[in-house]
Amino acid sequence: MTWDPVRDLDEAAKLGDILRDAGYTEDAIVERLGDDGPAADVEEVPVLDRRLAHDELGNLIRLLLLHLPVRKAEIPGVAELAALAFVAEVDGAVLPQGRIVPTDGVYLAFDGFSVGLADPPGWVASYTPTSFWLASLTPRPRGRRAVDVGTGNGAHALFAARHMDHVIATDINARALDFTAIGAALNGMANVETRQGSLFEPVAGETFDLITCNAPYVISPESRWQYRDAGERGDSFSERAVREAAAHLEDGGYATLTASWLGTSEDDPDDHIHAWLDGSGCDAWVNPIRGADPLDHAAGWTDHLLADAVGPALDTWASYLADLGAGWVTEGVVVLRKRAGTRHLVHAEPVEEDDLEDGSAQAVRVLRSLALLAEGDYRRMRFRLVKNAWFREELDFEGDVTDVTLMLDEGTQPELEIEPEEIDALIDPKGITVESVGDELLRSVLELGFVKPF
Ligand SMILES: C[S@@+](CC[C@H](N)C(=O)[O-])C[C@H]1O[C@@H](n2cnc3c(N)ncnc32)[C@H](O)[C@@H]1O
Repeated sequence: MTWDPVRDLDEAAKLGDILRDAGYTEDAIVERLGDDGPAADVEEVPVLDRRLAHDELGNLIRLLLLHLPVRKAEIPGVAELAALAFVAEVDGAVLPQGRIVPTDGVYLAFDGFSVGLADPPGWVASYTPTSFWLASLTPRPRGRRAVDVGTGNGAHALFAARHMDHVIATDINARALDFTAIGAALNGMANVETRQGSLFEPVAGETFDLITCNAPYVISPESRWQYRDAGERGDSFSERAVREAAAHLEDGGYATLTASWLGTSEDDPDDHIHAWLDGSGCDAWVNPIRGADPLDHAAGWTDHLLADAVGPALDTWASYLADLGAGWVTEGVVVLRKRAGTRHLVHAEPVEEDDLEDGSAQAVRVLRSLALLAEGDYRRMRFRLVKNAWFREELDFEGDVTDVTLMLDEGTQPELEIEPEEIDALIDPKGITVESVGDELLRSVLELGFVKPF
């Protein structure tokens, strides 16, 4: 990285119009490069380059998604891109510096592809798998004020700007805030403000209806990368993020955070997170997505190293985790809702990473259900299955039903095994009550987000 983006918001707004007019959208990329095209990796670039026509849109995709040079005459918006320093012009060739990629309906701006160890500390990443975790589990009711902590390229700030009046995006990295401001202008959003500082320092004393935070939660002995390493001992960075998020919520407000927490063993993984949330005034839906013993955790975060460097790195990471008394490391997403009342619930439910899809509505239902469970109100209420719920029946050779699973085509895609005779009570047009299905089944369908009040 030998360049810095230039925060010229007028040029960014003009560029956004040019890109939209040229049809540079996620759908256009998918049409030309397939479903995985928008998330293209650097290794795929040579193949994807050859799939693209040499027309205007093909060349925009080449330059801004694949980070390949094109000729000046072949694309629109060169002057605007140059004003933002996203390209350098040399002898009629346009050389990419930053990338701009349409993602879930907004343009995101960030650095070029990672070059592994050569990425400098202030390098700003693209939309990553953990960005997707966070976005998928963020409740999206309309509201007044939001903050996105550790905003990076600003993805969650820009998503929130579509349903919140005002969004503050914070980061310790000034480059990240420049990318975020440019991203907001590219999308014609005037309700995103950037503030530099660590965690919640830039918003001290303020409260929010929505908090998102995918700050660097990785429990590691290193502190090399601002976007990855928590840089604090053990899981104390995640602890601080979770506790401070709870403290900065308005009554009824939601917070979604990626976090990592240590456990003594695979059988006892979530003690820390329960302790962090005790007395927080929030109900919490805890979604453990990746769990690993210390060696697997280390291997997952050192796989970019060359073969002879891997062994020593594994030893360093393993002895760091051993010193912390950790037998298990969990990474996942924590969703909080602040609520008056003295009893709050924390519900943890492991998630299959590959199953995760948009669960913003499920998150709202689960958090509201946890409130009803905590207060005992659910016993006096009627519920109904949501429209994404369905039953999977397994039959034996005689055609008799042997097993029934209640499924949800949404969010974390939970599954719940039920008895065949429970189906009728669950689809009863008069609704589901504690009398009709029993306490245990009603609690389960509430905790997993299968039902909503009648
Ligand atoms: C993993 S990236 C995530 C970026 C973006 N939120 C996303 O989900 O795609 C983490 C971001 O947190 C920022 N960061 C690191 N330490 C921080 C801190 N103490 N306070 C606020 N932001 C921090 C990094 O600069 C980086 O931009």
